[in-house]
Amino acid sequence: MIRNFLYILLNLVLFSSIFISLSLALTRPPEVWVLRDLYQALNYSNALRGWNGSDPCGESWTGVTCSGSSVIRLQIQGLNLTGSLCRLYLLRNLKKLDVSSNNIVGEMPFGLPPSVTHMNLSHNFLIGPIGDVFTGLDNLKEMDLSYNNFSEDLPRSFGSLTNLARLFLQNNRFTGSVTYLAELPLTDLNIQDNLFNGLLPHQFQNIKKLWIGGNKFHATLQSAYRFEHSR
Ligand SMILES: *[C@@H]1O[C@H](CO)[C@@H](O)[C@H](O)[C@H]1NC(C)=O
Ligand SMILES: *[C@@H]1O[C@H](CO)[C@@H](O)[C@H](O)[C@H]1NC(C)=O
Ligand SMILES: *[C@@H]1O[C@H](CO)[C@@H](O)[C@H](O)[C@H]1NC(C)=O
Ligand SMILES: *[C@@H]1O[C@H](CO)[C@@H](O)[C@H](O)[C@H]1NC(C)=O
Ligand SMILES: *[C@@H]1O[C@H](CO)[C@@H](O)[C@H](O)[C@H]1NC(C)=O
Repeated sequence: MIRNFLYILLNLVLFSSIFISLSLALTRPPEVWVLRDLYQALNYSNALRGWNGSDPCGESWTGVTCSGSSVIRLQIQGLNLTGSLCRLYLLRNLKKLDVSSNNIVGEMPFGLPPSVTHMNLSHNFLIGPIGDVFTGLDNLKEMDLSYNNFSEDLPRSFGSLTNLARLFLQNNRFTGSVTYLAELPLTDLNIQDNLFNGLLPHQFQNIKKLWIGGNKFHATLQSAYRFEHSR
């Protein structure tokens, strides 16, 4: 009798303490899972201080900024990180993602959160064709994929980035045409030093800051653009 009672009491204490520690954690559980996956994908780097903890928003994890219980900024640039990226979709309030200037390998991740406004993956070792990963990212205003090793043609979903104002693709190995960029509201576009070819869309004449050199565009058009944009 007494033993049963003690057993129940013990369980009660155990469960309530688990419950209390769960409810004390600030961060939404799906966001904790994502950051754990990312920590693993980035080889548990020592530079990611705090990331071995359990509550990104309650503790101060390197590069993580929250609003309430949600991660809004992930800024882990210039930390010598190795490894790769993972799906970040469940970071449903993420606005800024900066993983630039590391040694990250692998491909462009699928499942980027639709909330994202600024994304910088530049100066890494990302490779491969970019799949149709941009569908639904209509909050994206600025994207920097420069200085990687991306290849092949731009995916059609570039055309769905209807708020993209600044785009940097320079120093990759992209091929094919840039026609999916024609209708975007770009003010800054750098596609220098790739393997793009074909014709330049006439809409590019309205882009204030345009860098297109070091490609294989139709020669006379390219020199006309150079003339127009060199001031
Ligand atoms: C996380 O790592 C730091 C530094 O290695 C260590 O001091 C700390 O105890 C670890 N925290 C947890 C929860 O494992
Ligand atoms: C990055 O790693 C290299 C080689 O391991 C090392 O020489 C360099 O100091 C590191 N830089 C930083 C900022 O940790
Ligand atoms: C990081 O992880 C990748 C596999 O994801 C592995 O190939 C690589 O050697 C690791 N790098 C370091 C420095 O541990
Ligand atoms: C992206 O990061 C790189 C290196 O950290 C920086 O030089 C570049 O200006 C950033 N891009 C944008 C658009 O801010
Ligand atoms: C980019 O890819 C090419 C071809 O696969 C390879 O030769 C080159 O070393 C790569 N460069 C970098 C910086 O990864």
